Amino acid sequence: MRSIKNEKNLINKLILLRLDLNVPLDQGKISDTTRIDKIIPTLNYLMRQKTKIIILSHIGRPKGKIVNELSLKPIKEDLQKKLNINVKLIEKNIFEIKNKDFFNDFDEQILILENIRFYAEEEKNDLNFANHIASLGDIYVNDAFSCSHREHASIHQISKFLPSYSGLQLDLEVNALNKITSEITKPITCIIGGSKISTKINVIKNLIPRLNNIVIVGGMANNFIEYFGNNIGKSIKENNCKQIVSEIILLSKEKKCNLIYPEDVLVSKNLNGFSQNKKLDQISSDEMILDIGPKTINKVLNIIDKSKTILWNGPAGYFENPNFANGSIKIAKKIIENNKVNKIFSVVGGGDTVSFLNNLNVINDFNFVSTAGGAFLEYLEGKELPGITALN
Ligand code: 3PG
Repeated sequence: MRSIKNEKNLINKLILLRLDLNVPLDQGKISDTTRIDKIIPTLNYLMRQKTKIIILSHIGRPKGKIVNELSLKPIKEDLQKKLNINVKLIEKNIFEIKNKDFFNDFDEQILILENIRFYAEEEKNDLNFANHIASLGDIYVNDAFSCSHREHASIHQISKFLPSYSGLQLDLEVNALNKITSEITKPITCIIGGSKISTKINVIKNLIPRLNNIVIVGGMANNFIEYFGNNIGKSIKENNCKQIVSEIILLSKEKKCNLIYPEDVLVSKNLNGFSQNKKLDQISSDEMILDIGPKTINKVLNIIDKSKTILWNGPAGYFENPNFANGSIKIAKKIIENNKVNKIFSVVGGGDTVSFLNNLNVINDFNFVSTAGGAFLEYLEGKELPGITALN
């Protein structure tokens, strides 16, 4: 990969900078700014090089439609405050924008194009769309490691049209993860939770040969609970997953990778409700699983105690409601406790996990924090990420 840091003569160049500003929003307000904070050094660096910057990013999954709640406006405002300069959000349809429309004002340095996923072409990795975006700049920089597992136009296809570089944060994450994976100490435990089941379920199979223990919690665990014949009521799940779940179970036996999934859970009739502890065969049709129960917590803490490396992506429950944050809190505390006495090396990743740990004010108690969730897991899998391949 060529890093933008090693490139000379950037003065007056128009940089198309792909970032992952997919931060959690709560009623239009950013509830965790980590992904924004992490790319401030990149923006400052590019400004010091006297470049003009056009930021490309997505937020959420608007699926090719304009969704007002998924505008990048709150992010633009946060960036403006943090950089103490004027940042302009371009809301005009991207197909109507031409390169000469920008930076007429001499002092202007940073623009953000509105949510790139408002265009269906982005996720289709459309070549003409990528060509059009590329026509707006001189150089492409990918500083969105956490999106680099997506074969999307502004991550992948765009690099065909412009000299392409990695950004400072992407360099940092890739170098750190390279070092971690090459020096990793066994037993290795990976805790996988969160709600993005479709992104992660296929990754598990490929992770099995590399790991000693896989702990499945969060939304993904529901597919396993159902697979064993339990009613999971209104819980989130991925459809048509029986085959892959059965393959995961078989392969984990064959490779002697210990697979741990919940034995008991906390349920409620709705997201804002109180919690009730249930055995797996007691869940009713109008309930949803929102956290792991005390027996499962004990089992997971035990596994952490027996591990030398912990990789954690995805909370154990719906932590946004404190009644369902207990599983994630107990896991975090145990990892921190063992980390403090140098019993384990800990790596955490993913937007929600980072947001949860920031809320607990413990983010600095882990050895490495990646902004990436799905990309982090796919990287661990040993897979070439399309966004990284495109830069090579
Ligand atoms: C993430 O949050 O992992 C990235 O922003 C990618 O988002 P996605 O899973 O919607 O592609």
